[in-house]
Amino acid sequence: MLLKVLSINGSRRKNGNTECLIQSILAPSKKAGAQIESISLGGYDIGACTGCEGCRSSWECIIKDDFAQVVEKIDEADGIVLASPTYWYSVTSDMKRFIDRCYSLIQFPVNRKEWIGKYQGTGKACVTAAICEQSEESALGNTLSLLTDFSKDIGMDVSDSVKALGFFEAGSIKADHYLLQKAETAGKKLFDRLKR
Ligand SMILES: Cc1cc2nc3c(=O)[nH]c(=O)nc-3n(C[C@H](O)[C@H](O)[C@H](O)COP(=O)(O)O)c2cc1C
Repeated sequence: MLLKVLSINGSRRKNGNTECLIQSILAPSKKAGAQIESISLGGYDIGACTGCEGCRSSWECIIKDDFAQVVEKIDEADGIVLASPTYWYSVTSDMKRFIDRCYSLIQFPVNRKEWIGKYQGTGKACVTAAICEQSEESALGNTLSLLTDFSKDIGMDVSDSVKALGFFEAGSIKADHYLLQKAETAGKKLFDRLKR
């Protein structure tokens, strides 16, 4: 069966650093013949979560916009690459709106302290990645931990996380062969996990 890997980019910048990092993470899956799809959340109309609790007893958000399309792509994928640049110490607003709407991908069947993620037990695995301009770790804020905790909460198995510090100009990350190699290694680990 053909394995599918989906990348979800929180940046709107064409040929930006997040895009380059994603390509390196996807490279081993691409080389192995997996079906690849790359999307940028900026290309989808995803509004803010209103906290209406309309998803309380279903896996579906009741707001009718492009969110369901993205969830359908996740449903169909075996592996996910979830990546965002850092905007003010966190993920971009496109990524944050998407994550908030994924509130519909968790359910609280017993009490509010325990939840189950829609993808729990599905074997769906993911790599998270975060980029920022400054070279100190503190400038990354919670970008990487947010992407990782979120992925785990919705039931995905996070096989690796990649952080890229010190990249400003679009595509400047391409000069860092060591980092891109590290990203490829994370991508290889993801693909090997999916093959099992
Ligand atoms: C609105 C905005 C806020 C940003 N905030 C931060 C920040 O808090 N820390 C940081 O190191 N870089 C920050 N940056 C820089 C970006 O994270 C950096 O340029 C990154 O490489 C952009 O990724 P991209 O090329 O994929 O869009 C910010 C950039 C923008 C446009």
